[in-house]
Amino acid sequence: MSAVGFHLLPDSATVDSSGQLLVGGCRLTDLATEFGTPLLVYDAGHIRQQSARAKKSFGDRAVYATKAFLCRQLVRLIDEQGLGFDFSTAGELAVLVEAGVDPAKMVFHGNNKSDSELAEALKLGVGRIVVDSPGELDRLDRLVGEGLAAPKIWLRLTPGVEVHAHEYVASGADDNKFGLPISTGQAAEVITQAQSLKTVDLIGFHSHIGSQVFDLKAYQRAAEVVIDFVKPYGLSELSLGGGLGVAYTNDETSPTFSAWAQALEQAARQSGFDHPIGVEPGRSLVATAGISLYEIGTIKELAGIRTYVSVDGGMSDNIRPALYGSRYEAFLPARVQADRSRPVRVVGKHCEPGDFLVADGHLPPEAAVGDILAIPVSGAYGYSMASNYNRQPKPAVVFVDEGQARLVLRRASLAELSGLEVDDLVV
Ligand code: LLP
Repeated sequence: MSAVGFHLLPDSATVDSSGQLLVGGCRLTDLATEFGTPLLVYDAGHIRQQSARAKKSFGDRAVYATKAFLCRQLVRLIDEQGLGFDFSTAGELAVLVEAGVDPAKMVFHGNNKSDSELAEALKLGVGRIVVDSPGELDRLDRLVGEGLAAPKIWLRLTPGVEVHAHEYVASGADDNKFGLPISTGQAAEVITQAQSLKTVDLIGFHSHIGSQVFDLKAYQRAAEVVIDFVKPYGLSELSLGGGLGVAYTNDETSPTFSAWAQALEQAARQSGFDHPIGVEPGRSLVATAGISLYEIGTIKELAGIRTYVSVDGGMSDNIRPALYGSRYEAFLPARVQADRSRPVRVVGKHCEPGDFLVADGHLPPEAAVGDILAIPVSGAYGYSMASNYNRQPKPAVVFVDEGQARLVLRRASLAELSGLEVDDLVV
């Protein structure tokens, strides 16, 4: 197996004369020593570049989907490039507010927004609320009736388009918890309901067909169905959500933002829609910017079966392999160009056999206990879905840029993890 593909590494990745990988001008193995492992390293320049590319391709209609990864430093980087932000919970909204994002640039998603979340969004003047059900319209009507400002809303539509994605992240088919199906007539009914209300201003539509979509034709099919349906209403705003696929393994290639934009423009032109289509990239903005670092703690060869390489993290910091069967590469950053001829399974330290990070990985034969092992393309949906399973703290996160490393999220101490306990056993 050849070395890890450079297309899976952040923009600033270079190799020094001793074969060590540097990102943002910092040696990864030095970062592991300085900040400990597990460690999530982001190339700040890569995030800046990707945001700028999204802005160039989609202009003001590019909105970052914060569920992929969220912290204040990240928000600042993306905000500087002029993108908007989506959020789905009061928690995500709080981070955006703390980072100083203009609420007018925010989009509020979710199939079960609470009264208090909706009220907060209305008070702040969040730019768009994406209504997902008739009940949500009733709630908005009531809240605005109680004196809060009338929001601009989009309606989330389900186009009935199936995509080639894991069933847990496919959301274009009619039978799913998000949106209102076009095919059954329900979307049209809710539009009539929205238009009858003075308390909301329906100005556009939204649709998100799923995640890890490589086939741009799937977006074109969705665009055609949605545009056919929305055109008679004469509204100018349409977002087709996120989902652009990202390469995780040597054999995959990521479609670019400009190719995505072209595909959507073509679909809009063919369907006679004269307005730019918006998007909400999450993964494609941050995944490749992030690399996870672990220390190898145990190497166990089960004769005639396989070699297990155990690291000091696992499903608590990256549930994706266990949850979706997601594939990753593994490599040694100290020898990034080395051939990886030794088949291994990289596993975590959690108490279940399904706790694997790279089910069918390869490492250089000399990989040894104490080495730093890296998993690239781990900047999306790793930290944001991380847990404290087995009371394991989430990894620390550092941003690297031009030779400087800055800690942006520290590792929680065990005392902090125990800090939520209310000890009613003590009388
Ligand atoms: N917009 C909406 C309404 C969404 O629901 C999502 C993702 C996005 C945008 C961003 O999608 P992206 O560009 O990141 O694919 N945890 C899964 C992915 C779940 C995506 C959920 N919605 C994973 O780790 O693959």
